[in-house]
Amino acid sequence: MPSMASNNADHTAKINNPNGPKADFMARRQAIEKHRKALPIAVVEKRLLEEVRNNDVLIIVGETGSGKTTQLPQYLFYGGFCRNGGVIGITQPRRVAAVTVAKRVAEECGVTLGQKVGYAIRFDDATSASTRIKYMTDGLLLREALLDPYLSKYSVIVVDEAHERTVHTDVLLGLLKTVQKTRSQGVNKNVHNRTIEAENGIQLEKENVVESTGIMKHNQGKNLSPLKLIIMSASLDAKIFSDYFGGARAVHVQGRQYPVDVLYTHQPETDYVDATLITIFQIHLEEGPGDILVFLTGQEEIESIERLIQERLPKLPESKCKLLVIPIFASLPSEKQMKVFMPPPSGFRKVILATNIAETSVTIPGIRYVIDPGMVKVRTYDASTGIEPLIIVKTSKAQALQRSGRAGREGPGKCYRLYPENEFYKLKASTTPEIKRCNLANVILQLKALGVDDILGFDFIEEPDRMAIIKSMELLFLLGALTDGSKLSDPVGHQMARLPLDPIYSKALVVANQFNCLEEMLIIVALLSVESIYYAPREKLEESRTVLRSFSSLEGDHLTLLKIYRASDEFLEKSKLVGSPDKAEKKLRKWCKQNFINSRSLKHARDIHSQIRRNVEQMGLCVTSCGDDTLQMRRCLAASFFLNAALKQPDGTYRALSSGLAVQIHPSSVLFRMKPECIIFNELVRTNQNYVRNVSTIDYLWLPELAPQFYALLE
Ligand code: CDP
Ligand code: MG
Repeated sequence: MPSMASNNADHTAKINNPNGPKADFMARRQAIEKHRKALPIAVVEKRLLEEVRNNDVLIIVGETGSGKTTQLPQYLFYGGFCRNGGVIGITQPRRVAAVTVAKRVAEECGVTLGQKVGYAIRFDDATSASTRIKYMTDGLLLREALLDPYLSKYSVIVVDEAHERTVHTDVLLGLLKTVQKTRSQGVNKNVHNRTIEAENGIQLEKENVVESTGIMKHNQGKNLSPLKLIIMSASLDAKIFSDYFGGARAVHVQGRQYPVDVLYTHQPETDYVDATLITIFQIHLEEGPGDILVFLTGQEEIESIERLIQERLPKLPESKCKLLVIPIFASLPSEKQMKVFMPPPSGFRKVILATNIAETSVTIPGIRYVIDPGMVKVRTYDASTGIEPLIIVKTSKAQALQRSGRAGREGPGKCYRLYPENEFYKLKASTTPEIKRCNLANVILQLKALGVDDILGFDFIEEPDRMAIIKSMELLFLLGALTDGSKLSDPVGHQMARLPLDPIYSKALVVANQFNCLEEMLIIVALLSVESIYYAPREKLEESRTVLRSFSSLEGDHLTLLKIYRASDEFLEKSKLVGSPDKAEKKLRKWCKQNFINSRSLKHARDIHSQIRRNVEQMGLCVTSCGDDTLQMRRCLAASFFLNAALKQPDGTYRALSSGLAVQIHPSSVLFRMKPECIIFNELVRTNQNYVRNVSTIDYLWLPELAPQFYALLE
């Protein structure tokens, strides 16, 4: 067995070399090399390269932390798989993993991020023409296929974390299967070969057939080389992938795992946030050295636990205050995400508050204690009502095992499951693939844009529910993205497919263009795409309400969000006039704090805003503003989100018109007390009640006028 330190020598040793920066640099490089060589995957480097050379599709299964994601692409690069300018593309289900791993690999290779090693995720592209190892999200590669159906710049595509079975991974596998076949036959043969087209329902050569001269010009000199496909997974069950790729070869990389002592509670916990907090302090005060990893369900929960820890820390004896809280979740700015990998200052214990990204996608060094409340936030889809709420559910057994495994990577560890042992045996064996429990509208839109007309005939690794497909097609039809013949409509469907947003939001931008309020809608959609921008510590709830009142609009949350964004923008621009951009950003963060705004979320929304603004401009849409005409703005909201309308009932609750569901306005909404007659909303939160968030007041009569395809019968 390796010693604890050897596996992570570069993390645990803080290098402070008296011989100056150059020596520091050399020491760092040596530490990195030592770390790389100590990874379990290092001993099979040659064998893996052989396997990739001999197999067009290879499945690699390996324990989390064995070095698959960071090392394999480097082996491939040095093994000659980028000759002739080919790029190695590695897909990740999670943005955080794509970014942090790319940074790490750039460092391991000693190159600047964005040059040889880069990443691309939605709203953030750090690649260049010289990038040869490109980490990206699975969704992003699917989008790339819209522009380059053969994915011709890639010589190898690695679908990583395939066990996560995100809907994008599943669809990507189907697409790659066809692309690989097509490419192995060369594009010229492909022009005449329509059997491939039929096989997976994909009309990759559609252009060739329809405009043979055009495509010949387009592809002239583009000699498509065969594509290597590698599927990587942390779960031992490789069979499903192997079967899907006609009995493809699967290899296992031996991992290392130390024993983990699993502890359960005696009773079920009524408040797992509180139980988590108690457990963190119990470990910190009573257990030996080692960092703590806590699995939580989302940004809000993480930030509230972070605050609670900070509040309690000063009450501890001085010698016990050395606890460093580090959050990690998807929308955290990337420079902050890297913090989880850094060693804590001497004498400090790190407590990492993570979402389930730390289960398998991101391996954090130094963890000895894992706290697992047993919960995870998932998006679900109820095909009968078309409702797609985010709900907090129990993890699967496989997830619980992955989580406890994180405690035993570098030495024996402990995992605290905050539920009784008998509950563990009642958990589902594994998580249902996302494709079986999500709204497929987005995927269908993309498949249609790729030329897959027969969605029901697409070769999915696991078939989605037919009802869900039909419901999602109906939704696209109601949004005007599909024609009566189920083709992508022109221009709306094509425009929607080009936007990297949920179809409802893409449609809102297209509609806003017609209502002359695209400028406003771009801001609203950007803000709706991030987790809440409000930040109110429990003890300052009243104060925050008073402060925020100056922004609130009686017409609803959308216009309130717009006011906040504009006020922050104005503040930033003014600050830029008198100071450097960095200073202005700093001032903005202070402004956010004073106004109870979450500056991280706001920054994220600003980034999204600039990208989607670029997108619509590239599409030739004109970004105009409706000025102070808030009525026009609300009419536009009604025309966009008509599917989420609700009417007040005599008892003061609401009835959602499309689903018939009884809902209430969430207490965080500016309309919570006003209770207007008719509302539209953007989010449904299911706790013990059905709450709607991001609500605006509309006139009931606008619905049949603006969305006759859906409401004409109500007249
Ligand atoms: O993909 P797999 O789970 O097999 O492992 P990996 O992500 O390649 O991680 C291999 C090693 O690199 C682990 O020891 C991680 O802690 C380390 N690593 C790191 O130090 N910084 C990163 N940003 C990513 C990984
Ligand atoms: Mg990995």
